[in-house]
Amino acid sequence: MIDLARPATHSSLMARPPRPLSPSVRRAQPADLAAVTRLINRAHAVEAFFVDGERVDHAEVAALRERGHFLILDGDGGELAAAVYVRIDDGRGTIGLLSVAPDHQGRGLGRRLVAVAEALCAAVGCVDVELAIVNLRQELGPWYRSQGYREIGTAPYDQRPVKQPCHFVRMQKALA
Ligand SMILES: CC(C)(COP(=O)(O)OP(=O)(O)OC[C@H]1O[C@@H](n2cnc3c(N)ncnc32)[C@H](O)[C@@H]1OP(=O)(O)O)[C@@H](O)C(=O)NCCC(=O)NCCS
Repeated sequence: MIDLARPATHSSLMARPPRPLSPSVRRAQPADLAAVTRLINRAHAVEAFFVDGERVDHAEVAALRERGHFLILDGDGGELAAAVYVRIDDGRGTIGLLSVAPDHQGRGLGRRLVAVAEALCAAVGCVDVELAIVNLRQELGPWYRSQGYREIGTAPYDQRPVKQPCHFVRMQKALA
């Protein structure tokens, strides 16, 4: 289990009143993949204005997990609060499918998962991390730029049937 989110100083011996612990980030196991699929599709329903269909199915999520890691944050009642996919190829990290459950958005979970994904990439020696956003999602560019990502190019959009023309914007961040 990756536990970067849990305060290291928490102890029952501390005199301060207890405060809620942050949820721990863990790697998704096969039993989590149905919940990962549901979460990704719920979060990406925001893309319905330009694209048809669901973002992923269970088979795709299972295949991705064979080649990389889904880092997840548990929510309530067996559902997940957030997830991100991380893959490492030849010293380069790629993150994708970042998804925060609609009722958990705006609380810092997205930023936290990006930071944990970057820490994982850095720990295995990656020099940088890359991701892609769709140009029509205008809020995402500033959001990732505020976390140190910069545009490095474009790529054709090839995921689902589109309702209007669009393309990917590739973004990259160097890891110190
Ligand atoms: C995009 C997404 C992952 C963000 O996650 P989140 O948990 O809601 O975002 P966070 O709470 O971590 O980030 C909020 C921060 O971003 C800032 N922010 C919000 N919009 C911003 C913008 N347009 N530009 C810069 N910063 C912005 C907020 O001010 C806040 O900053 P603070 O932490 O300093 O207060 C989430 O909304 C989501 O799952 N969306 C649907 C799926 C999706 O689009 N995924 C991305 C695919 S690439």
